Amino acid sequence: MANATVVASSWIPLLCLVVVVLSACTAVSSAVECNGDDRAALLRVKAQLGDPDLDITGTSISGPVPASYLAGATNLRTLVIADSRLAGPIPPSLAGDHPNLRYLDLSGNFLTGAIPPGLVHGSFRFLILSHNQLTGEIPRCYGDVDTVDLSHNRLTGDASFLFAAGRPIGKVEWNELAFDMTGVRFPHHLRYLDLSHNRITGKVAKSLMDVRLEHLNVSDNELCGEIPAGRFMAAHGADCYARNRCLCGAPLPPCCDGGL
Ligand SMILES: *[C@@H]1O[C@H](CO)[C@@H](O)[C@H](O)[C@H]1NC(C)=O
Repeated sequence: MANATVVASSWIPLLCLVVVVLSACTAVSSAVECNGDDRAALLRVKAQLGDPDLDITGTSISGPVPASYLAGATNLRTLVIADSRLAGPIPPSLAGDHPNLRYLDLSGNFLTGAIPPGLVHGSFRFLILSHNQLTGEIPRCYGDVDTVDLSHNRLTGDASFLFAAGRPIGKVEWNELAFDMTGVRFPHHLRYLDLSHNRITGKVAKSLMDVRLEHLNVSDNELCGEIPAGRFMAAHGADCYARNRCLCGAPLPPCCDGGL
C-alpha cells in the first residue's frame, strides 16, 4: 500500500508534463489536431510515466523547463529534453529536486541566463547544455560531474580552471570566453581540446607540449606569438590555429623579429 502511494505520487508530475507537451500544440486543445511531432512526444511521455529515464527529444515542447511538473519525480535518473523549444532560464531547483539525476541533456533549445551554480554540484555523469543562449560565467565548484558540454552558448569569463586536474571534461567551443592562455597548465591525460571560436588571448600554452592530444583546435580566437615547438606539438596542423590575431612559427609561417 505504501509502495503504491509512492509510485502514484511520482506519476502525477509526469502526468502534468503530458499537459505541457499538449500545450505545445499550436493553438488547439485536442491532441488529435497536434502535428505528428507533438503526438509522438505525447505518446512517448505517456509510455515513460513512472520510468526514471525520461527522453523527449526533438519535439515542439516550448516555454520554460517544466521543473515544477518534474519536482515530484524524485526517482528521475535521466532527463533529456533536447532539440526542442524550451526557453528562459535553467531552474536552480533542477538538481536539488532529483538526487538520482545522472544524465541531464537540455541541448538545442533557447535557454537563457546563467548556469545555476548549484546545478554543477550534482552527481551528474553528463551535463549537456550545448547549443543554447546561456550567458554569464561558468560556475567553478563541481560535484562528481564527469562531462560538461557547454559549447555553442554565449558564456563569458575565464574557463581555464576547467582544465585543472580532477575537473570534469569540459567542452566550451563557440562561446565568448576571454582569458589569457599563456600560462594555463593543461593536464597530461587530456586527449581532446577544442577552444575554437572564443575570445582567448595570449600565446598558445607551452604546457601543451607535454599533452598527447588527439584533437586540438584553438582557431577563431585572439592568440598571438610563437607557437611552441617540440614533443607532441608536431602532431597539430595549421588548421588548428586558423584565424587568430598574430600566431606564427611552425606549422604557420615563421615569426619575424625573433618571434614577437
Ligand atoms: C576548428 O574549429 C573551427 C571553428 O569551430 C572549425 O571551423 C574548424 O573546422 C576546426 N578545425 C579543425 C582542424 O578541427
